[in-house]
Amino acid sequence: MRPACRSTSHPQAPDNARSCPFRGRRPGRFAALPSMSTLKQRLARVIPYFRDNSRGALALACAAMVVAAATEPAIPYILKHLLNSGFKDTAGLPIWSVPLAIVVLFVIRGMSWWVSSYGLTKASQNAVLAVREHMFAHMLRAAPALFTRNSASSITNNIVYEIQTGANLLMGSVQILIRDSLTALFFVGYLLILNWRLTLFVVVLFPIVGYLVRVVSKRLHKLNVAGQNATDELAYVVEENVLAWRIVRLHGAARQEQRRFDNSSRLMRSLNIKQQASGSLMTPITQVLASFALAAVLWMALAESTRSHGTPGDFIAFITCMLLLIQPAKHLSDVMAPLTRGTAAMERGLDMMELVPVESGGKLAPGRVKGDIEFREVGLRYTARDSDEAPDGTLVAALSDVSLTIRAGETVAFVGPSGAGKTSLVNLLPRFVEPTSGDILIDGAPIRDYTMDALRTQFALVSQDVVLFNDSVAANVALGADADRARVRDALAGANLLDFVLTMPGGIDAQIGHNGTQLSGGQRQRLAIARAIYKDAPILILDEATSALDSESERAVQAALEVLMKGRTTLVIAHRLSTIEHADRVVAMDHGRIVEQGPHAALLASGGLYARLHAMQFRGA
Ligand SMILES: Nc1ncnc2c1ncn2[C@@H]1O[C@H](COP(=O)(O)OP(=O)(O)O)[C@@H](O)[C@H]1O
Ligand SMILES: [Mg+2]
Repeated sequence: MRPACRSTSHPQAPDNARSCPFRGRRPGRFAALPSMSTLKQRLARVIPYFRDNSRGALALACAAMVVAAATEPAIPYILKHLLNSGFKDTAGLPIWSVPLAIVVLFVIRGMSWWVSSYGLTKASQNAVLAVREHMFAHMLRAAPALFTRNSASSITNNIVYEIQTGANLLMGSVQILIRDSLTALFFVGYLLILNWRLTLFVVVLFPIVGYLVRVVSKRLHKLNVAGQNATDELAYVVEENVLAWRIVRLHGAARQEQRRFDNSSRLMRSLNIKQQASGSLMTPITQVLASFALAAVLWMALAESTRSHGTPGDFIAFITCMLLLIQPAKHLSDVMAPLTRGTAAMERGLDMMELVPVESGGKLAPGRVKGDIEFREVGLRYTARDSDEAPDGTLVAALSDVSLTIRAGETVAFVGPSGAGKTSLVNLLPRFVEPTSGDILIDGAPIRDYTMDALRTQFALVSQDVVLFNDSVAANVALGADADRARVRDALAGANLLDFVLTMPGGIDAQIGHNGTQLSGGQRQRLAIARAIYKDAPILILDEATSALDSESERAVQAALEVLMKGRTTLVIAHRLSTIEHADRVVAMDHGRIVEQGPHAALLASGGLYARLHAMQFRGA
């Protein structure tokens, strides 16, 4: 359950960010973050998802924003004329035309506002859809490293929540960026018309604001990334405790878990406070700067009006315009927080996917193979998880120099103490793990040459941990294919489960529920066996397939398995040695090596590892 890159319980363990890029991405470790690219580069990665899916909607939104912004200077303009004429002259128009103009103005502005929001929402939802589908599709085909590097909760969090939040924030920011810069532009334009010297004086202040915004946005980005990692960490603690609630209670680990949770929560709290604090620093700073501008303008305007003849209307229009300019300027200075947060959120999703490539297979797609298997000097080393024996990142040998030939149709049993490498060995076949050295061939062709689909159709796998989907029994048995009801029944009958399934409401259409928790361990395992029978693959892998069964159902299932094994190449890993006496050959493994192999009787007679394991089990039983 614990993903390889986590080390919450060993915070003192040496950090090896190189061998596991995700290790460094933990809250509070800014130093370990990948070098920070500029906001522009980061945006360039994200923007195409918005642009390419919604050109029309974006164009419409932009047009609407131009219209909305253009209406803004109209108020100071109207004021100026009313003031200059002493509220007497409406340029020959009827009295009611001015109030009407104001209403019309606001109707136009409101409509444009709505259209721009609609267009941007559409663009953002299209982007979310595109990114999410891309991410999920990638997840389904990604190299297995994706799942060892990331916890389930962080993948879920990214695909389900972060992308949505990120896109919403981004589009909100884009709206502010475009609309308010346009508004500001129109105001500044009008200001220039009114009094260009005064305006130039005010404009000098802009670079100062720009610099401040840059500084704050850098810090915000760091805090955002750290905040997302903290969210992951928190979700991860919750996920673990949801999955392991029984063990947590049985071991009285509640207090310990609470402490873990509290630590993560506190970290998140402080990051959020820092984020908020940095983000909201911008408003007071810009406002103070704005007050400088206003003070200076007033001063100059007053000094100037004594010399020249600026009308009161001009002056009021100028001041109104400036005051109105504060609002968009403030929005623009605040936009950095959501913009960086949104970009970071979306980027993280993209990162998670792009850092792990898609599984790549070869071109060979031969249909059904005969089932000859050959391991040639296969070695496998795992990158260690944090533990006391091996610091994180070191390679631990799980298999060394394994050479083994299995003929089509043969049944080979693997035995050995736990940790000997049996599961690792069979996991190599469908390429759930890649060997570090050596070759693996099926029907004489290296498995790397097969397409992924062609390779994986060759195997049916029944293992200790059975995963069931929240769907009907039939769908679980026929997993991946359309359910042929007659064959589903046959498969269930073969696995000695049909009688039970028929007692369920709905029979083979009965819903199994969340990971089949209402089924017993043995029933779950028999369902997995039915799934293997249904798949009818030429190579069968049974990894402790009968370990959850009681002796009676094991005998029944054993009979089913024997029928299933006929005509197939079978690799059986069995805990109970009594179940493998009929295998053609027994391979005994220890410490990642094959120590002996041969028929059951011969191995017993030779008095090696197998004989010892056998003696131990039958003495005890
Ligand atoms: N994903 C993994 N990451 C790191 N080490 C692993 C991983 N899977 C298995 N190992 C290690 O490889 C060795 C062999 O494990 P495994 O093949 O599961 O043995 P068996 O099935 O014979 O009990 C063990 O030492 C185990 O700790
Ligand atoms: Mg195992």
